Order: sequence, then C-alpha cells, then structure tokens
Amino acid sequence: MNIPSFEQAEAFIKEAQGLNPGPWVQHSFFVGKAAESIAQHHPKLDSQAAFILGYLHDIGRRSGVADMRHTLDGYHFLTEKGFDYAARICITHVFPLKHINSVAGKWDCTEQELDFLDEYLSKIEFDEYDRLIQLCDAIALPSGYCLVEKRLMDVALRHGVNEFSVPRWKAFLGIQKDFEGVIGQSIYKVLHGVVENTFGFNPCE
Ligand SMILES: [Fe+2]
Repeated sequence: MNIPSFEQAEAFIKEAQGLNPGPWVQHSFFVGKAAESIAQHHPKLDSQAAFILGYLHDIGRRSGVADMRHTLDGYHFLTEKGFDYAARICITHVFPLKHINSVAGKWDCTEQELDFLDEYLSKIEFDEYDRLIQLCDAIALPSGYCLVEKRLMDVALRHGVNEFSVPRWKAFLGIQKDFEGVIGQSIYKVLHGVVENTFGFNPCE
C-alpha cells in the first residue's frame, strides 16, 4: 500500500493547516483516530495505515475553502507526491454510495473533472480501507466522535435532503454493521468520548 509515513502525514497536515486553517484539521485527526481504533480490532487492517489514511482524507482542503472539489485537490496532491493509495481515499471517502450525485455537498468543479471522477469510480472496487474511512468521516466532529445518526441528521439539516439521502444513510449503517460483525462489538465501544460528543454541549457546532 502506497501511503506516507506518519511523519510525512504530519508534515502535510501542518503545511495544509498553514494554508487553510479551520476545524477540518481536528476533524481529520479524529477520523484518523477512529479508523485506528476500529482497525486495532480488525484482523485484516493495519491500525497505523488506517490512522494515516483517515488523517489525510481531507488534505485537499490545503487548496483553500471549497466544497466537493476538495476530493480532487487531495487526490492530485497525494498522487503528485507518489502516494497513490492515500490519494484514492481522498476521492472514495465521500462515496458510501458509488454514485457521483450521491454526495452531501456540491460539485464545484468542471465537467471534465466530473467525468474523470465518474470513470475513476467505475474502475475501482471499494476495499476495507475505503469503507472504514467513509464510516469514520461520518462519525468524527472536530471535537471527537459522535453517533453516526446524529451526524447524518446534522448534515441533512444543513444541506437538505434529496433522493440519495435515505440510500446514503442505509449505506453508512450497512458499513457500520459490517465492521461491527468483524470486530465483534459496537464501534462505539472502541471510540472513547462518544457519549459526551453526542449528547453533551459541543462548542464546535
Ligand atoms: Fe472529512
């Protein structure tokens, strides 16, 4: 698997934070920590790789404030650095449903870029790391982890719903169920602070 070392990932994040500071950095950290914690209980996943992939999934934010084009920005940044597998996660993390129009945000990119994404998606099969980061992105706030249903509701209240919303929610819950089947327990058992972040006051909201 072609991914940066922990030190390289940390350097990429520090540089990106300087270019475009924001809560996305802490969110990214918790996506990484959630992925690491779940991977520690998974027989086939490497927990350090899981952390690095989660930590870098939104690295495209380095290019400035953008909507869904952060996926392409991250993909190109990591591809140019030679980290193809980490680059892949920058795209796949927004597709619990493999459909270009199923994402929660808006595609602020060109027709050619959309065609590229469409073709890219059609050529790959999601693996366990793709699915792990899709799930962890849906449970990580800048302040820590929360119940996936809370985060999905939060996104729906902010962005509205469309014909993909219910299938998308089912996809997230399906991924959660699959991982819980493999690790033999609730994901919330291995993610510390879920109760506080889900039911407590969150100054980041
Ligand atoms: Fe994210």
